[in-house]
Amino acid sequence: MPSLCVFGAQWGDEGKGKIIDRLSRNADLVVRYQGGANAGHTVIVGGEKYVLHLVPSGVLRPGTLNVIGNGVAVDPLTLLEEIDALTDRGVSVTPENFLLSSSAHVIFDFHRRLDALAERWRGDGRIGTTGRGIGPAYADKAARLGLRIGDLVSERRLRGRLTACVGEKNAQLERIHGEAPIDLEAAVARYRALGDRIAPFIGDAGAAIRDAYAAGRSVLFEGAQGAMLDLDHGTYPFVTSSNTGVAGVGVGTGFPPQKIERVIGIAKAYCTRVGEGPFPSELTGPLEQRLRDEGNEYGATTGRPRRCGWFDAVQVRHAVAVNGADGLVVTNLDVLDGFDEIEVVTSYRHTDFAGGSTETYPTGFAAWNELEVQSEARAGWKAPLTACRTWEELPAAAQGYVQWLEALVGVPIVMLSVGPERDQVIPRGLE
Ligand code: GDP
Ligand code: IMO
Ligand code: MG
Repeated sequence: MPSLCVFGAQWGDEGKGKIIDRLSRNADLVVRYQGGANAGHTVIVGGEKYVLHLVPSGVLRPGTLNVIGNGVAVDPLTLLEEIDALTDRGVSVTPENFLLSSSAHVIFDFHRRLDALAERWRGDGRIGTTGRGIGPAYADKAARLGLRIGDLVSERRLRGRLTACVGEKNAQLERIHGEAPIDLEAAVARYRALGDRIAPFIGDAGAAIRDAYAAGRSVLFEGAQGAMLDLDHGTYPFVTSSNTGVAGVGVGTGFPPQKIERVIGIAKAYCTRVGEGPFPSELTGPLEQRLRDEGNEYGATTGRPRRCGWFDAVQVRHAVAVNGADGLVVTNLDVLDGFDEIEVVTSYRHTDFAGGSTETYPTGFAAWNELEVQSEARAGWKAPLTACRTWEELPAAAQGYVQWLEALVGVPIVMLSVGPERDQVIPRGLE
């Protein structure tokens, strides 16, 4: 797999960290291309749990170069804290195995403040963001007010760029929000110091990726969030502020998109969402709580309980279509071990749809609260899958469930995950 993009095919938390860590044994480079520390990617190796927010999930494999591309929004303090925490646990993060794009945008403290204030202003329409300053930082990027990582290493550059940005922010903070202004000098001093600490990692990430690929090395692009949180193709405005799928790779790394050879989506065997917004297959009551308990569905970044529902084939088909996915990895299959019956959403119903129902995701649809879903049920397998390592070891009902999803989604399911540990996978065409 000289170049492979792996993205979330639902609303995030599909198990990307676990699968990227697994696949990174065959990768020379693991590259984050969008998002920021809103991501929480869990990797469990030998009972040791690591939750990665910014550092790519290849960091636990010695010999892998982990790259943060220009499309990622980086809070330098969070990054350093993460690097320090990993180092304390014996995971080396050095310029040998970690490269940070000089063109990645910086998330400042004030972006976090503005994230919280924007949520307050949205009132009932709040998104339920992770509070990591993502939206305001990407807004500044698009408004050409943002600062990039390379701006932190020179006092002249930092002060010049920050003066303009802080001027605009202070007008906003003081006049709109009635809040205390940002102290420019304090910010310059604080971020210059952070710039010094991250300086050894900074470089031309795009060139490094292109050169490595040209030299025959394999590159794994690690998506964050998920297809339905994509700024353009997700459930806008209840989305994040970046392009989460394969389209994010070209802009977020400087790697030519036509050179991405394989695209794989990751979906849970059911579905979760954190934060507000449409979630057609969402369950309520004891069934939802059961999925949450069995799947330990609490946010890796914010600790919030995740909303839980059945696998939504309409939604996953949309993710596959928008990204041209060649295949799907299905995770958390073991979470369904105890269920008598397992359902899958197969179509949406609403009077707006021709004939009253649709099997195709209704882009542009807005009346989510009036939507009804049509689902089908199958008997569960009622046996533990966590020790299965081959397709043949799976009970027939579990095989049937996977084949059913495969038929509904229309692409091969190339790997199954049956537990959070690195080795708890069943390869089916993806190693
Ligand atoms: P990510 O953001 O896509 O990397 O996913 P998260 O790490 O936020 O959430 C996935 C959760 O599921 C984590 O707690 C993982 O340890 C866990 N996990 C991953 N794969 C499996 C699996 O196959 N079975 C079970 N039971 N848990 C899994
Ligand atoms: P990983 O990479 C799940 C959600 C937030 C909120 C919306 C916007 O671990 O899958 P933001 O802070 O990005 O402005 O919040 O997106 N969200 C995630 N949900 N997993 C994530 O990342 C998420 N990152 C953001 O809950 O609804
Ligand atoms: Mg997560």
